[in-house]
Amino acid sequence: MKVLVCGGAGYIGSHTCVTLLEHGHDVVIFDNFSNSSQVVVDRIGELSGASVRFVRGDVRDQDALETLLADGVDAVIHFAALKDVSGSCQQPLVYFENNIVGTIALLHAMQSAGVKNLVFSSSATVYGEPEAVPITESAPLRATNPYGLTKLVMEQVIGELCKTDPEFSAILLRYFNPAGAHPSGHIGEDPNGAPSNLLPYVAQVAVGLRDRLDIFGNDYPTRDGTGVRDYIHVMDLADAHVKALQKLGQGGCVTLNLGAGRGHSVLEVVSAFECASGRRVPYQFVARRHGDVAEAWADPSRAEKILGWHAQYNLRRMCEDAWRWQSGHPNGYRS
Ligand code: NAD
Ligand code: UD1
Repeated sequence: MKVLVCGGAGYIGSHTCVTLLEHGHDVVIFDNFSNSSQVVVDRIGELSGASVRFVRGDVRDQDALETLLADGVDAVIHFAALKDVSGSCQQPLVYFENNIVGTIALLHAMQSAGVKNLVFSSSATVYGEPEAVPITESAPLRATNPYGLTKLVMEQVIGELCKTDPEFSAILLRYFNPAGAHPSGHIGEDPNGAPSNLLPYVAQVAVGLRDRLDIFGNDYPTRDGTGVRDYIHVMDLADAHVKALQKLGQGGCVTLNLGAGRGHSVLEVVSAFECASGRRVPYQFVARRHGDVAEAWADPSRAEKILGWHAQYNLRRMCEDAWRWQSGHPNGYRS
């Protein structure tokens, strides 16, 4: 298939592009580099050994997208979004503009060009504070911050579009906690400034960029008092996107959890990372982070049923691959 990958130079997008190219898909990456760079695109080409077409642009530029889509594109994978929860609380309009207006421009362009197949990056954030675990796709949805609201709104907009146009086919993928890196160690997660997510923070402590990890709360009603999450290897996510593409074209909107289906505590992540890296990860317990929940993990059985997909890699492997990337590139793509 010829696939337009919006946000394809980002963390999840870059791993997915390598996998798509390895499966023989024709990939066009569209990215404004607001959170990535040309180095990533070059590495995607090197790793896959395939030629990658890259167009620098913004998803809010409907005309640019229409021109690209008219060139025989079969499907779009839409990763392009701003994703920092605290940033979204400080500048909600910037997030609404980028994530919502951007996606609507993309949908307009798809409609004009007659491209009717979409895979959309959603997030487990749409579940807010879950009432029960494991979380199924039919659990109640609520946004607890502006970023989460952008995902919730776009899920609904895409759902409505599928209802009005029976030929429009969308798969909404709700990622749990993406982690790890490509096994080569040449591409990985490269946060801007201090990481807000656990795994990249732990990796930066292990490599010596930061003194210690602050663990947000040790008084949760969990097995060791720290928060429990469903970490999912980024290569497993990449695989799910390739499988999702194969299911498009039948019309309708399908929503799928992408998680491993088991939870790990913060202390278990620290311990797994210490084993994988051979380094100590000093930590201290601090107050809970506002907006955090005690535990969240997926029921991924619908993804297994519909895509024939389940997670292949465990937490140890996520830590090993994250460490290979972090230790080889202490300053991310700048090193
Ligand atoms: P990322 O920031 O690494 O990648 C996003 C890419 O989109 C970047 O390359 C950025 O430059 C590009 N981009 C952003 N706005 C754009 C715009 N207006 N026009 C063109 N390009 C634009 O993020 P990621 O971790 O790879 O996340 C990918 C998607 O998955 C996002 O939609 C995110 O909300 C979602 N998601 C991520 C996580 C996570 O923890 N990483 C969890 C759940 C969902
Ligand atoms: C965060 C986001 C969520 C987003 C998800 C995946 C918040 C409030 N939520 O959720 O919207 O969908 O990432 O991108 O930001 N932890 C520490 N110390 C740290 C960092 C994290 O103890 O420095 C703990 C957290 O309290 C949590 C666990 O580690 O228990 C995982 O945290 P994180 O990686 O931020 O993911 P989520 O909390 O699931």
